[in-house]
Amino acid sequence: MYGLIKKLLFLQNPEEAHHSALKLFKIAQSLGIDKLFSIPQSWESYKNKEIIGLNFPNPIGLAAGFDKDGLYLNQWDAMGFGSVEVGTVTPLAQEGNPKPRLFRLTKDEALINRMGFNNLGVDNLYNRIVYYRQNNPNCKLIIGGNIGKNKITENAFAYKDYVRCIEVLGEVVDYFTVNISSPNTPGLRELQNKDELSQLLESVQNANQKLKRKRPLMLKIAPDMEFTQIDDIVYLTHKFGFSGIIATNTTIGRNLPHYTAKEIENYGNGGLSGKPLTQLSSSVLQHIINNKPKDLNVFSSGGIMNAKEGILRLEMGADIIQLYTGFVYKGTNLLKETLKLYNFSKYLDK
Ligand code: FNR
Repeated sequence: MYGLIKKLLFLQNPEEAHHSALKLFKIAQSLGIDKLFSIPQSWESYKNKEIIGLNFPNPIGLAAGFDKDGLYLNQWDAMGFGSVEVGTVTPLAQEGNPKPRLFRLTKDEALINRMGFNNLGVDNLYNRIVYYRQNNPNCKLIIGGNIGKNKITENAFAYKDYVRCIEVLGEVVDYFTVNISSPNTPGLRELQNKDELSQLLESVQNANQKLKRKRPLMLKIAPDMEFTQIDDIVYLTHKFGFSGIIATNTTIGRNLPHYTAKEIENYGNGGLSGKPLTQLSSSVLQHIINNKPKDLNVFSSGGIMNAKEGILRLEMGADIIQLYTGFVYKGTNLLKETLKLYNFSKYLDK
């Protein structure tokens, strides 16, 4: 079914297709036929499983950037996602980079994006989540708030933007993700350097400690770093009392075997995601798992294009897997197949 819908969607430009797909699911939901596409949200085998102090109904999450403004929370729940990361949100609304800024590279099952944190601002997101929670008091969907800085904010003051987002969203999200790894906000990735990072993590944790209800904190990192730099980041994340790391965001690399150098150049700057990221993201995950303190959790994002890869990441030790490009290419089939394989692998374990 998704095969047919995908054919039609892929006739549109990627950014339009993104919105059309979500509207289509909304319509399916109002017609009561959404169950055709979705899986149960709560997995039997996940009952009472606690990760970062929260009860995730299942290990499949929607990665940040898909629903930046929390417009489709009902839909993620209905499709069967256990968690969704809304954002990246910034204190002030911003338009992001000029269009076109999202490209489909179908031959390599990839995307290149330079969206640039287009979002409606943190106050708007707050209202959206409050509305969702009021209308779904028994919802199990875990909502993570992925936070960033406005483009106009200089790096020296970046911490203020993160702190502001924590202050606004503290009462309504289940966990926070500090995003310092998008390649599309100039200078953002420099915040991954040791000194800048220490200051930022400390400010964020201090703001978190002032909340009535302290939230688990995650840090999302880029895949384009030496392992020694990743080790420093893991150390600091733990030192400042974060719950874990999300590995990884998109890459600035251009491992695209089915495209010529000229074609690749024409797409311009941006983060590459999907199949070309599978290996890189997986190797970063493996390195972190081999070297992290026991009580630090890891969520895996990057190039999870099929159920086998998803289960592999969980078997490697990821607590949650987050989908983006795989979901664009495979739709809810990817969730269905992952659940099937998960149950099968659990059966084999016994
Ligand atoms: C993203 N991603 C992203 N990440 C983030 O932390 N904040 C964001 O706002 C966005 N925005 C965004 C937009 C688009 C169009 C894409 C394709 C990606 C990164 C995303 O959450 C994920 O980490 C990467 O895409 C890697 O996973 P996949 O896509 O290879 O499964």
